[in-house]
Amino acid sequence: MKKITETSVVEYDEPGGPDVLHLVTRPLPAPGEGEVTVEVVTTGLNHIETFVRAGTETEWHEDYPRRSGSCFAGTVVAVGPGVTAYKIGSDVVGHVRSGAQATYLTVGVDHLVPKPRTVTFETAGGLYLAGTTALDTLDELKIGPDDTVVISAAAGGVGSIEAQIAKHRGARVIGTCGDRNFDYLRQLGIIPVRYGEGIADRIREKAPDGVTAFIDNFGQDGRELAHELGVADARFRSSADRRERELALLSDEPDAVAHGTEQLKKVVDLAERRAFTVLVSGFYPLEDVAEAYDDLQKLHSRGKVVLATHPVTTRRIVKAREVMESRG
Ligand SMILES: NC(=O)c1ccc[n+]([C@@H]2O[C@H](COP(=O)([O-])OP(=O)(O)OC[C@H]3O[C@@H](n4cnc5c(N)ncnc54)[C@H](OP(=O)(O)O)[C@@H]3O)[C@@H](O)[C@H]2O)c1
Repeated sequence: MKKITETSVVEYDEPGGPDVLHLVTRPLPAPGEGEVTVEVVTTGLNHIETFVRAGTETEWHEDYPRRSGSCFAGTVVAVGPGVTAYKIGSDVVGHVRSGAQATYLTVGVDHLVPKPRTVTFETAGGLYLAGTTALDTLDELKIGPDDTVVISAAAGGVGSIEAQIAKHRGARVIGTCGDRNFDYLRQLGIIPVRYGEGIADRIREKAPDGVTAFIDNFGQDGRELAHELGVADARFRSSADRRERELALLSDEPDAVAHGTEQLKKVVDLAERRAFTVLVSGFYPLEDVAEAYDDLQKLHSRGKVVLATHPVTTRRIVKAREVMESRG
């Protein structure tokens, strides 16, 4: 097999919007002890990357040029000394603190789990941060069959995975969304409730026996609403809690990496068992990364926005936001 010595990687040299992102060619290190080189097939987008890029995420300290992206799925193309778990041709799902938006990356095998054949690359590339954030939150709240849980932004990347896994655990799940997502949530077995004025009454109507837990992904008046619904503080998670969780899941401290990989394995197993599905509502070629973030930042994606290094077609798909805008 031809030795891969270069990678095309998304970088930026200054804080800013999506337009500061550009693809550059960089040397690719050969895999060392315990490492492999992965040809990236798909790589998902997350909001936290936009906060880091814009300079509003104060806990992120890294020199420029910076790289973007933490979730990926791909195929192993080179194996370093001491690696037995993967061989050339193994399909994997993985995570890095930053730099997943690239054609190739060299990474420790402690950041990877095997990709089952039945979990598509489109799904697998966006699984890490959204999936592990969802799972950590549900684990911490011990969501189970006795719960009626409200999840905000339930049609979004984190919310849709969270809502489906909560339902898989036997909970009754109420998801907040706009009108356009009612059918989507119903198809997943989630009870949709429109956000906005009067939401507390609409939730009470769907939960006559009360609400036991509240997960606020969106971050608008979530705590006030949870109080109004009688949810105990210990069973409320705010969007600030979510930010802290995401930062922890992106840490490159060995314990954090081990935890992230362990949770990723559970998320991938759940996907393989079809406990949840991920709708990819924006699928872009890697070079269109700025446009993909622009789509994500419109805040109306359904499921995930994902980049692909080998899109099967150059025909433009309808973007998540265009579905929204076409309502007139
Ligand atoms: N990383 C962080 O630091 C962090 C932490 C916590 C929260 N967040 C925020 O959490 C939100 C969701 O995250 P995500 O990753 O799931 O993003 P996402 O996939 O972009 O979520 C978009 C979803 O949000 C829904 N939405 C829009 N306005 C809403 C509102 N007023 N109330 C409830 N839902 C609304 C949309 O539903 P409709 O199309 O039906 O309107 C859409 O399905 C984002 O705004 C993100 O910025 C980020």
